[in-house]
Amino acid sequence: MTDAEITTTTADWNAWQESWDRQQEWYMPDREERFRIMLDMVETLTGPAPRVLDLACGTGTITARLLARFPDAVSTGVDLDPALLAIAEGTFAGDDRVSFVTADLKDPDWPAKLPYDSYDAVLTATALHWFHAEPLAALYGRVAELVRDGGVFMNADHMIDETTPRINAAERAQRHARMEEARRDGALDWAEWWQLAAKDPVLAEPMARRFEIYGEHADGDMPSAAWHARVLREKGFGEVRPVWCSPSDTLLLALK
Ligand SMILES: C[S@@+](CC[C@H](N)C(=O)[O-])C[C@H]1O[C@@H](n2cnc3c(N)ncnc32)[C@H](O)[C@@H]1O
Repeated sequence: MTDAEITTTTADWNAWQESWDRQQEWYMPDREERFRIMLDMVETLTGPAPRVLDLACGTGTITARLLARFPDAVSTGVDLDPALLAIAEGTFAGDDRVSFVTADLKDPDWPAKLPYDSYDAVLTATALHWFHAEPLAALYGRVAELVRDGGVFMNADHMIDETTPRINAAERAQRHARMEEARRDGALDWAEWWQLAAKDPVLAEPMARRFEIYGEHADGDMPSAAWHARVLREKGFGEVRPVWCSPSDTLLLALK
């Protein structure tokens, strides 16, 4: 199904999942590789039936890959966006391994809304750059309390090393050239994807609420992997280091 055809089909959750993935892959062509390594590390450190918190889950991307690979896993997805959560809830309706929680991760009390007190793995992707450094450090403190001893936290996101400005500029230029080429082949950007989603009558009401919450996009920071690692250690993780990186992104693993 093409993106244009989705609007003629109400509540086709799989089509929305695919469309979301295509939009995200426009920014990160190696997105699936990040998820694969994330789950490799979950398996080797916590086993093949983990209890996972999909933090800032969006449409439940990590949860979908988790359950496809580990059918005995369970997952809690937490997010604030009513439209992305509507797609997530529609996709996993009737699957008792999965539950979703609506919460603002900047609210200190969000962990009280979760169905479990602790998790084997807390996983997140392409989300925490929506936070400024101070609220992110506070969030890391809460995440550290939720991960069981021996469990893991992983964050795959844009992380920028400000000590390498010429390398950063070259990487950015290369990435944007590739994105422009993909645009000519019809890729949707973030704003266009939301315009498309707003046309689905099933998403109209949650879409209106999401624009009240977020506007076009949140405004956050992109600190370096070294900053994330230092703060995670300060908040209680024993070992922290990247387990994968691309020219623009890092997958950071913190072991408690
Ligand atoms: C780009 S999406 C990524 C979603 C998913 N992890 C993926 O890789 O497809 C970023 C997500 O972070 C969520 N988010 C941002 N700030 C948040 C907050 N303060 N509380 C809860 N969720 C938040 C957004 O609602 C959105 O779903």
